[in-house]
Amino acid sequence: MKIFKTYIARQSTPIKNKHENFMLVLGVIWVLFWLIISFGTQWLESFNSIYLILALLPLLLFIVQIIFKLVNRKNKKMDHLLQLASENLDLLKKDTDEKHRTKTAKWSYLLGNDFDIIEYHPQGNQSTLSEIEDIPRRLTEYLESTTRRAWILEDKRLENSFIKMTFGHIPDERLVIDSLSQLAHLPLKIPLTKNLVWDIKKQPMGLIVGPTGAGKTTLIKSIVIEFLANSKQNSLYTIDGKNSFLASATSNFVHTGKTATDGQTSLELLKELNRIMFDRYHKMNLDILNEKDITYVEAFPNEGHILLIADELLALISEVQASDKTKPTKERLAPQIYSRLLSLIVRGRQASISVIVSGQQMPACILRTEARDSLGLRIALGRVSQVQAQEIFNRGLSDLPHVNTSNFGGLIWLDGLDWETPKEFKSPQYDDNKLPFKHTLAYLTGQKS
Ligand SMILES: Nc1ncnc2c1ncn2[C@@H]1O[C@H](COP(=O)(O)OP(=O)(O)OP(=O)(O)O)[C@@H](O)[C@H]1O
Ligand SMILES: [Mg+2]
Repeated sequence: MKIFKTYIARQSTPIKNKHENFMLVLGVIWVLFWLIISFGTQWLESFNSIYLILALLPLLLFIVQIIFKLVNRKNKKMDHLLQLASENLDLLKKDTDEKHRTKTAKWSYLLGNDFDIIEYHPQGNQSTLSEIEDIPRRLTEYLESTTRRAWILEDKRLENSFIKMTFGHIPDERLVIDSLSQLAHLPLKIPLTKNLVWDIKKQPMGLIVGPTGAGKTTLIKSIVIEFLANSKQNSLYTIDGKNSFLASATSNFVHTGKTATDGQTSLELLKELNRIMFDRYHKMNLDILNEKDITYVEAFPNEGHILLIADELLALISEVQASDKTKPTKERLAPQIYSRLLSLIVRGRQASISVIVSGQQMPACILRTEARDSLGLRIALGRVSQVQAQEIFNRGLSDLPHVNTSNFGGLIWLDGLDWETPKEFKSPQYDDNKLPFKHTLAYLTGQKS
């Protein structure tokens, strides 16, 4: 059970500390006691065991006090910080009491090893909703500026009567992808930063959006290497709408999947994957007595997960739509590509097929709402526009945290982690010199180049 400590900050709180005063009184009594004993004429005779116990009692209490203080040091510090924060954030100036007699701010907190949870309980109509919603930001700024620790607002949520903030203290760091032996090799888990992992089971489908040069393809390179390194059985399918480096690497050096670069080959690739998906469902459904709702790879551990990367989907679809205009409706490729891609995104999870779509933009005409809702991993690299904030995260731009987008950074959302807002994302640094992509792909798929 989580036990929160509640602290009430009061304006002009007398800094007198009851415990400290108590200790001082005890100390004085103890010293006086010994003085009287020491200077008494027959002190040696009267120094019997009762005196000894009486003399040692304050000392014992004194030691207990010190231990109590040491154990509670963290809480004391937090109380003090919250008192100062209440004053600094002007939380004590407003009050429900018309005569302004009691000026208080109520906080509860739980200090953990990895995270600290702080709750602010506004009293009555003390603050407006927008003021309360702004407290996490202001508190973070205050704690950052007055302590020597990092205060990373991992989560914030407005509950019925209070706002709950979760703070971490270990700043997230970029991963460096420069050696196969350094990779985590976790089954169906792809570390994205030091603290964040793409859990393919939890968020099987993904979306990466960003302007040109923002680092989409490089991020895909890191993900692909980690994915193939995790299991020899895993296979990779690639659609590269720009027929760029990615396609040239995967088509020539990946021998456990397929690569497509135009409408026709993309459709064939998607048909093949849909066939595989239905075969996998069929194989799982043969065991009619199986009660478990498990994925294909869980049912058949010797087989691998499939990852489809659709890089530059917008470029591909735009091109296909342009050439479709000259074709009769039945022969048009774009709707066929759409329906097969959608089918994989919506139904691929249980067949252990994941899809990551990527592009400079992802308007609704390219990725419809039903597909978009299935994308549990969402990354926006570079600056996000108002329209993109809505498209990618379903939020207004002002609801997104301000993050540093230099050095291939951006924002990330991972479903199922109970986050309130997207988080800052630092894309892994892919070191092409130490881990040449094509060579590594060939090595990982069993064909040494
Ligand atoms: N995470 C990274 N680590 C190291 N270098 C990076 C990273 N991301 C991008 N770069 C550098 O920036 C260049 C452009 O990145 P990248 O090709 O991945 O962008 P993009 O978003 O795919 O652009 P486009 O939309 O034009 O395809 C890369 O060639 C690489 O040199
Ligand atoms: Mg690219």
